[in-house]
Amino acid sequence: MKDVVLSAEESAAIADWSEASRQRAEKVLSQYPEKRSAVMPLLYLSMIENGYVTNEGMRQVGVLTGLSSAQVQAVASFYTMYKREPVGDYLLGVCTSISCFLLGADDVLAAVEDETGVPDGETGGDGVFSVEHVECNGACGGAPVVLVNWEMIESVTPEKARELVRWLRHGRPEVVNTEEMQQLFGGARSFDWGIKEAEGAVLPVPAFGPYGSSAGDVPSPNSPGELEGTQTFPRGSRGRP
Ligand code: FES
Repeated sequence: MKDVVLSAEESAAIADWSEASRQRAEKVLSQYPEKRSAVMPLLYLSMIENGYVTNEGMRQVGVLTGLSSAQVQAVASFYTMYKREPVGDYLLGVCTSISCFLLGADDVLAAVEDETGVPDGETGGDGVFSVEHVECNGACGGAPVVLVNWEMIESVTPEKARELVRWLRHGRPEVVNTEEMQQLFGGARSFDWGIKEAEGAVLPVPAFGPYGSSAGDVPSPNSPGELEGTQTFPRGSRGRP
């Protein structure tokens, strides 16, 4: 790892970022021999700062990496986890790839859309839910799979999906955790012997560790410990209504 000191132009470009994110950007840049190779984690940091990948965020990442805005946009638009528009507090993803499809994912997605009132690919007007269908999450043995802020729940029925939505709407948990949601709303899992995930995703997307937030001053249901360099964001921050 090499020491990285940002140039005056680079520092100025991210002057509006939090101190934690600026430090994180320096650390990320120090881990790559070529600055341009850091484009993805830097895009992630810009998404944390703004809630989604903005045009200004892509310009900032371009300054840090030496890439043009068009090159940064090419990366940001290729990967679906980089969001180009504001996302609700709870991003609900329903896997509709082949294994999940064969075991009723379309019905699960329809239940999520109906219970949230949010169509696939959209965010509700109150900013609570976003809904999207996603591709295979590699948990085909536990199909159908539902993600909440990218925390996975396996073997979800349409009825359980509705319960999940109601649980989120009424409970508004600050931390969502796979283990808890799996017990409440899931069924059979792909692997029972997997390592249990101690931390959860902290609202809102994409504020989850290690680049985002996982512990800090937001309590996790399973582990209140801190992760190095984590950040927390209050609900409604980062340009949300
Ligand atoms: S098809 Fe849904 S997890 Fe693989």
